[in-house]
Amino acid sequence: MFLNDPEAVKVFFLRSAYEAHRPLNRLAGGVNLRFLSQKGRVGMPRIREARWLAPGVRWFVVEAPRVAAKHKPGHFVIVRATSDGERVPLTIADSDRAAGTITLVIQQVGATTRTLCALDVGQEILDVSGPLGKETEIEKYGHVVLVGGGVGTAVIHPQAGALKKMGNRVSAVIGGRSKDYVIMEEELTRLCDAVYPCTDDGSYGYHGFVTGKLQDLIDDVADPVHAVITAGPVPMMKAVAEVTRPRSIHTVASLNPIMVDGTGMCGGCRVMVGGKMRFACVDGPEFDAHQVDFDELRDRLTAYREQEKAALERLRAGESSHPCRIGLGVAG
Ligand SMILES: Cc1cc2nc3c(=O)[nH]c(=O)nc-3n(C[C@H](O)[C@H](O)[C@H](O)COP(=O)(O)OP(=O)(O)OC[C@H]3O[C@@H](n4cnc5c(N)ncnc54)[C@H](O)[C@@H]3O)c2cc1C
Ligand code: FES
Repeated sequence: MFLNDPEAVKVFFLRSAYEAHRPLNRLAGGVNLRFLSQKGRVGMPRIREARWLAPGVRWFVVEAPRVAAKHKPGHFVIVRATSDGERVPLTIADSDRAAGTITLVIQQVGATTRTLCALDVGQEILDVSGPLGKETEIEKYGHVVLVGGGVGTAVIHPQAGALKKMGNRVSAVIGGRSKDYVIMEEELTRLCDAVYPCTDDGSYGYHGFVTGKLQDLIDDVADPVHAVITAGPVPMMKAVAEVTRPRSIHTVASLNPIMVDGTGMCGGCRVMVGGKMRFACVDGPEFDAHQVDFDELRDRLTAYREQEKAALERLRAGESSHPCRIGLGVAG
């Protein structure tokens, strides 16, 4: 994790200190963070590839050699799109050490993810800090089922290869509301023994929720399920935990609380697991799904809805008063 890298830690804390004292820095002429970045040799991460995977879901391959060098399944990064914007946590969906790149799959849900999804090849992301979080415990379980909902499919992608390498039989159950929203089927097919796409409207694959398909797999006594790893919307992860609980199948959920610093300092990402408070950024983000208080997580995720709505409205107002002309060949 990036805390083992003194140079990355130095740059991270210089940035955090700058953020904390931003008004003062502005008055005093400011510290040029990009200059700090260059001195620390952590350049602005440039986008090498970008494409839409599904409506509102964008795939990026980003230059981040230091992060790529240390990435393990389960890790995430904290990304900023603009110097006055929020820090958003995003899972590292894949990495290529030789190329020095990481893959991010981003669903636009609010102001920051919308700003990020508007970026294109050749443009730069302000900064990417990581890898953060604990890596997934990869063991030889036997038959492991990965359950991904929506953009959660990108979260379970790195685990597929690692579990397979460990000698597991790996199945993936991936869901979307319709065919267009099922993502990364091809990538998972390359890594898994079986992939089961599911759609709410029956337009592709299994007709129904991922939990229905998971229940079918669990009920198949000829091919028992030994472990489940899930990522996606909170109600889906909660439902997955309820499907596996009666058979006591080891189940891990990758939690997605709101995060700020990502290093255990702010307490923003606290979750209740087995009656104890844990920080998802340093203790997780993966936890025993049967121990997680999903209702509390859901409530915390919606606590800032008004502020998030206001931020999105400000962004939209800015967009309409300054329409984007990138790609239209219009100068000025
Ligand atoms: C460890 C971790 C890994 C993640 N990986 C990914 C990823 O790979 N791809 C991806 O698209 N998203 C991922 N997320 C979720 C992502 O961080 C949020 O969607 C993002 O912070 C929203 O920021 P925003 O400013 O665009 O929206 P906001 O304005 O902050 O929020 C808009 C809406 O999104 C909801 N929301 C806010 N934060 C989260 C959150 N953390 N999880 C779910 N819903 C949220 C809000 O309740 C609100 O309804 C991850 C979250 C965590 C904690
Ligand atoms: S994000 Fe601040 S403690 Fe986890």
